[in-house]
Amino acid sequence: MNKEMPPVLIIDDEEGMLITYKNILEDDFSLTLCQDPRDGIKLAKEKEFRAVILDLKMPEMDGIEALKIIKKNNPKVEVIVATAVNNAKNAVLAIKLGAFDYITKPIAFDELKILLKKVEEKQQLQKENLYLKSIIKEQSKFSELIGKSKEMQGVFATIKNISTICSTVLITGESGTGKELVAHAIHATSERKNRPFLVVNCAAIPENLFESELFGHERGSFTGAVSTKIGKFEFADQGTIFLDEIGLMPKNMQAKLLRVLSEGKIERIGSKNPITVNLRILAATNVNLENEIKNGNFREDLYYRLNVIPIKLAPLRERVVDIPLLVDYFLRKLKIELKKDVSGIDDSVVEKLKKYSWPGNVRELRNIIERAVALCNNKLVITEINLNNEQDPPFDDSNTLKNAVINLEKNHISKILQKMKGNQSEAARVLGINRTTLIYKMRQYGLK
Ligand SMILES: Nc1ncnc2c1ncn2[C@@H]1O[C@H](COP(=O)(O)OP(=O)(O)OP(=O)(O)O)[C@@H](O)[C@H]1O
Ligand SMILES: [Mg+2]
Repeated sequence: MNKEMPPVLIIDDEEGMLITYKNILEDDFSLTLCQDPRDGIKLAKEKEFRAVILDLKMPEMDGIEALKIIKKNNPKVEVIVATAVNNAKNAVLAIKLGAFDYITKPIAFDELKILLKKVEEKQQLQKENLYLKSIIKEQSKFSELIGKSKEMQGVFATIKNISTICSTVLITGESGTGKELVAHAIHATSERKNRPFLVVNCAAIPENLFESELFGHERGSFTGAVSTKIGKFEFADQGTIFLDEIGLMPKNMQAKLLRVLSEGKIERIGSKNPITVNLRILAATNVNLENEIKNGNFREDLYYRLNVIPIKLAPLRERVVDIPLLVDYFLRKLKIELKKDVSGIDDSVVEKLKKYSWPGNVRELRNIIERAVALCNNKLVITEINLNNEQDPPFDDSNTLKNAVINLEKNHISKILQKMKGNQSEAARVLGINRTTLIYKMRQYGLK
């Protein structure tokens, strides 16, 4: 038996009826059969069922009474009641009391299966609504973009200029320059601001799951597809989808994305019915896509489709005037977050920060300020700061097995990368992992 089949509770006093239910439904559902409604009520309270099928005519207890108690104990559980053909009054009453629907006896099992499918769809929808609500709540926390340099002022102007249109935007820039923050800001100033904003990190999705993540799948469309899954594109309908690290999207997915962009249609895996979606697409990358096109890793036609409005974020070392501003901003934010009583930072420290090269850009600056605030021991003014190039390596050499494995992995990847002269595809092949995983790990270990 497949342990992921949806659980269904059936309450009927007739043993023969229960056997019929079992024969017909057991291949698709994980059934709990129950002859006594009092036991059924208890079970419905203790366990989560996809649905409860409840006979209305039972000697031990009136089905309507049982329904009331089941719904009172767990208002969310969906109950399908089974009534005699000539008892329409009871059916209406049951619906009023919150039953999902009714079926008449003798039971047409095809109809019952359709009802169970509808229950599934309703629950799926409720889940999505919750999810969307949480996303909308999340996105309102964002959007403070700091910068007075002419580079950042240019970015702000572009964001403002495109606030009434829905064009695709390609955001480029080194790691930590604020690409994701800019994507949030574009969404938050657009007419779609009250619709979902979904982030898809192309570096984090295993290649074989990409299509299902983005497009969804129908139940049973491949081994392991135990239930229908709504993809990110469908979730983000009417809203914005942010395709982060687009340079790492596998080539077959690039072709499919191109179709979404040109036709506005998606298909779940295993379905022949195209679904129309209205999406605003933002994409970001820190690799040079033009090089990737030359190397055959990125489709040129997709690049032009994405690069309608280009936003290029300058590295922090090229906009030094933003550094004091960002320092001040992070200081104010972090002293609240970390509950530290810091009032400022010494000018000499800011001068030192202005001269640093910031390979990790704004993210690195934020981390350094966080460290300084966390370690300041209630000194009111920060007079000293450790930059990353003066720091210990990120992984300590404590003797735990986990650390030993991490260090081994890091050193081995670094060795193979050197051997392959930095060719990531080759290194990934030698290491027996895919390129996406390799890039993820390089990032994690700070390997160049
Ligand atoms: N102009 C800015 N004002 C305020 N905070 C910023 C700014 N730019 C970046 N940050 C902060 O720096 C951190 C990194 O930003 P973000 O994640 O957007 O960078 P990224 O370009 O997407 O990096 P990566 O390429 O590594 O994904 C975040 O904490 C973000 O809030
Ligand atoms: Mg990012």
